[in-house]
Amino acid sequence: MKQIVILISGSGSNMQAIARTAERDRWEQTLNARIAAVISNRPDAKGLQRAAAMGLTTQVVDHTAFADRADPRTAFDDVLRQTIDAYEPSLVVLAGFMRILTPGFVVHYEGRLLNIHPSLLPAFPGLHTHQRAIDAGCRVAGATVHLVTTELDHGPILAQAAVPVLTNDTADTLSARVLTQEHVIYPRVVAEYFKNLNDHP
Ligand code: GAR
Repeated sequence: MKQIVILISGSGSNMQAIARTAERDRWEQTLNARIAAVISNRPDAKGLQRAAAMGLTTQVVDHTAFADRADPRTAFDDVLRQTIDAYEPSLVVLAGFMRILTPGFVVHYEGRLLNIHPSLLPAFPGLHTHQRAIDAGCRVAGATVHLVTTELDHGPILAQAAVPVLTNDTADTLSARVLTQEHVIYPRVVAEYFKNLNDHP
């Protein structure tokens, strides 16, 4: 059985969309893949409760616990990596994981590390993507699923979904419209990843 580890920081709606699809489409039988664990860097992430309610294993690696280290980012990433690797994952899914990962971490998972970003990359990498799309006068916005490389919010694009930007949109209304599409494309990409892996082991 192939293992999936999902990393979250917040509400975990993308994680939930993936977990619901895994259940509905019986990924254990059809794709030989299962969600081994949901890991959060924030103990108060709402997504942890959502994951537990679905019967998923949850774990916390609190990034604030490493604040007094000489190199907090590397210290955090090292423990996060050990925690993830205990599940021997074939795929690591960043689903609203709001920490910038060190190059060493990214290289370790190269080719099996996915991210979803709430813009049509390469437009608007980084934060506040919806407000920036509105301010730029964009008529469309959207989300991108991509393989993670050492350059932030870059890396080969696997799927995108576009939505219109409406005249009265705020960052919140646009974000909600984009999020509904994220929930469609992210589970699809994860399923495709395992179909490919099963076809070309
Ligand atoms: C999603 O919109 C995701 O695209 C975004 O955070 C939200 C998480 O929502 N990710 C990033 O901004 C990564 N840079 P969720 O916790 O409900 O899935």
